[in-house]
Amino acid sequence: MNAFDFDFLTTGRLQLRMLADDDAPALLALYGDAQVMRHWSHGPWTDIAQAHAAIREARDDLLAGRALHLAIAPCSGEGLIGSCALFDVVAQHRRATLGYLLAPAYWGQGLAREALGALLAYGIEVLGLQRIEAEVDPRNGASQALLLRLGFRREGLMHARWRVGDEARDVELWALPARA
Ligand SMILES: CC(C)(COP(=O)(O)OP(=O)(O)OC[C@H]1O[C@@H](n2cnc3c(N)ncnc32)[C@H](O)[C@@H]1OP(=O)(O)O)[C@@H](O)C(=O)NCCC(=O)NCCS
Repeated sequence: MNAFDFDFLTTGRLQLRMLADDDAPALLALYGDAQVMRHWSHGPWTDIAQAHAAIREARDDLLAGRALHLAIAPCSGEGLIGSCALFDVVAQHRRATLGYLLAPAYWGQGLAREALGALLAYGIEVLGLQRIEAEVDPRNGASQALLLRLGFRREGLMHARWRVGDEARDVELWALPARA
C-alpha cells in the first residue's frame, strides 16, 4: 500500500492515475514542449532518461507520502494528455503545493479545471489538507485564470524565486485555504 492509499480518480471526461513506466515517451513530449514549459520552473526536458527518472521519483514520493504525481488520462486510463501533482506535502501543517500541465491540443476545453477539481477535492477531503499553494510565473495568464476559477487567491510576489537558465524569475504565490 502506498502512503496515500491512492488508487485512481475519475471525472466526467478524465482519469487521474499513477504514472507508469510506459508513460515515459508521452511525458517527454509534454515536458519537452517549449510552449508548455514557457512559464515552468525549469527548461524543457531533452532526454527520455529525465522522464524515466521523474516516474521513479513519483513512485518513491508516493511511498514516502511526500507527493502525489498523477497522469491526466482520458476516461479509459490509457495514454496521457497531461499531468498534475500535489507535492511538497507537509503533513504537520496539512499543506501541499499544486502543479499541473496539459498538452496544448487539450487547452481551452475546461479539462484542467475538471482534473484539478477532482485532485483538490481528494487533497482536502481524503488527505485532510488545510492549505494548498501554487507558484505561478506572473506572465502565465492561463494558469492565473485557472487558479481563480478553482477558488485560489493571489497572496503575493516572491522575488527571484526561480533560476531558469540565466534568468532570475519572480513568482506569484497563490493559495486555496481549504479549511479555517
Ligand atoms: C495552465 C493550463 C493547464 C490551463 O489550461 P486551460 O485549458 O486554459 O484550462 P481549462 O482546462 O480550465 O480551460 C479553461 C478554458 O476552457 C474553456 N472551456 C471550454 N469548454 C469548457 C468546459 N466544458 N468547461 C469549462 N471550461 C471550458 C473556458 O472558457 C476556459 O477559457 P477562459 O478562461 O478563456 O474562459 C495550460 O495553459 C497549460 O498546460 N499551460 C502550460 C503549463 C503551465 O504553465 N502550467 C502551470 C504552471 S503554474
